[in-house]
Amino acid sequence: MRKPIIAGNWKMNNTAKQGVQLVNELKPLVKDANCEVVVCVPAIDIPAVAEALKGSNIALGAQNVHFAEKGAYTGEISADMLKEYGVKYVIIGHSERRQYFGETDETVNKRTLAALAAGLTPIVCIGETLEERETGKTEEVLDRQITEGMKGIDDISKIVIAYEPVWAIGTGRTATAEQANETIGYIRKKCAEVFCPKCAEKVRIQYGGSMNAGNCKQLMAMSEIDGGLIGGASLKSADFSAIVHYDEQGLKLNKDLL
Ligand code: PGA
Repeated sequence: MRKPIIAGNWKMNNTAKQGVQLVNELKPLVKDANCEVVVCVPAIDIPAVAEALKGSNIALGAQNVHFAEKGAYTGEISADMLKEYGVKYVIIGHSERRQYFGETDETVNKRTLAALAAGLTPIVCIGETLEERETGKTEEVLDRQITEGMKGIDDISKIVIAYEPVWAIGTGRTATAEQANETIGYIRKKCAEVFCPKCAEKVRIQYGGSMNAGNCKQLMAMSEIDGGLIGGASLKSADFSAIVHYDEQGLKLNKDLL
């Protein structure tokens, strides 16, 4: 009922030229995917990558969007600017933006509402730090990120949520499939409470944090996990396509590329 969605988050990697090369390698490898495939690229790569993706089954995503329609916001990019290039998804509130660029639940909320109003699908990232997990604050943190960061969304199933425990991002330390499933189950329960039970059943919730070709099958087999937000492993076509084909057959198909 929920179509799985595997999205690459390139972060600040790949020039436009390198990005085009990567998606050109990727296109034939993922053309038969059963899930939705997305690449979220640096803003300046968008025009070239959009052109390279034409006619493919890979959707284009951005990594941030400003909440104002236009105006005096030096360095920022509006939803309309993204839409003109066919961008469909936009990552909002990634933990790196919260950590290094002053992103708060309030700005996450404003960006999310602006993206939705413009017809973009936000991929809203939430997740606890190691300290928060170890001190038993995971649910409290997620509650706040949901009630504050997603406030005012009329249909939560119009967004994608990425659960990314901060301690698992880029560290090689993945949450176990059971841990991820349990926490994502909690997020869904909270969404049912705050929004509506029906929308909570429909909203797609990804896992993110050191997901790779080796652990994707186990993670994706869990009942609550509807996809992945992939950082490091999205930078190589063989690795990313193996994740897209997380089922056994796909892994076999691509194993000679790994
Ligand atoms: P990672 O990053 O896969 O490199 O851990 C995930 C993310 O930050 O979205």
